Amino acid sequence: MFKIAVLVSGGGSNLQAIIDSIEKGHLNCSIEAVISDNEKAQAVERASKKGIPTYVLDKNSYSENFGDKVLEIIDGRVDLIVLAGFFSILKGKILSKFNNKIINIHPSLIPSFCGKGMYGIKVHEAVIKAGVKITGCSVHFVNEEIDGGAIILQRPVEVKFKDTPEELQKRVLKEEHNLLPEAIKLISQGRANIINGRTEII
Ligand code: GAR
Repeated sequence: MFKIAVLVSGGGSNLQAIIDSIEKGHLNCSIEAVISDNEKAQAVERASKKGIPTYVLDKNSYSENFGDKVLEIIDGRVDLIVLAGFFSILKGKILSKFNNKIINIHPSLIPSFCGKGMYGIKVHEAVIKAGVKITGCSVHFVNEEIDGGAIILQRPVEVKFKDTPEELQKRVLKEEHNLLPEAIKLISQGRANIINGRTEII
């Protein structure tokens, strides 16, 4: 069975989408651990409710060593690390140990509206401010560059003139909830391969 760890910081609707996908039989994998950098995250509650081993790591205590602490918990236990609304930056050994085995969901069409400081609702605020007509979401591999790893899947979403950031976020999240389980499935089936910085889906 393909095993994953899911890292979260907030509401956990993407975590829920993964759980639902597994329960419906669309995704054949098991969530071995949920790790949060925020004890108040609703995601923690969602995981505990399902009996998934859940760990809360205080990002202020670990800061630079956060990645090492995550590695300590999951090393040898999982095939893939999924960042599902996770707002800390992973650094250090974990990136080489899990080379091409960490993915992240981002609420825009990378390489637009991403990078340092661009997360959650801030992304949708920036999208509306820029006046672009199309946004969306992306799942990509994680490397040292923030939101810079090879893109696996993307889905477009139309920006309406009267959209508030919250309204836009809601429509993008709906797409995210399909996209993230789909990306996990492709990887678990060995169907997403990085070639020269791009991902070939076979
Ligand atoms: C999602 O929109 C996710 O793409 C975004 O945070 C939200 C978390 O929602 N992630 C980032 O911005 C990462 N740069 P959720 O907690 O309900 O899944």
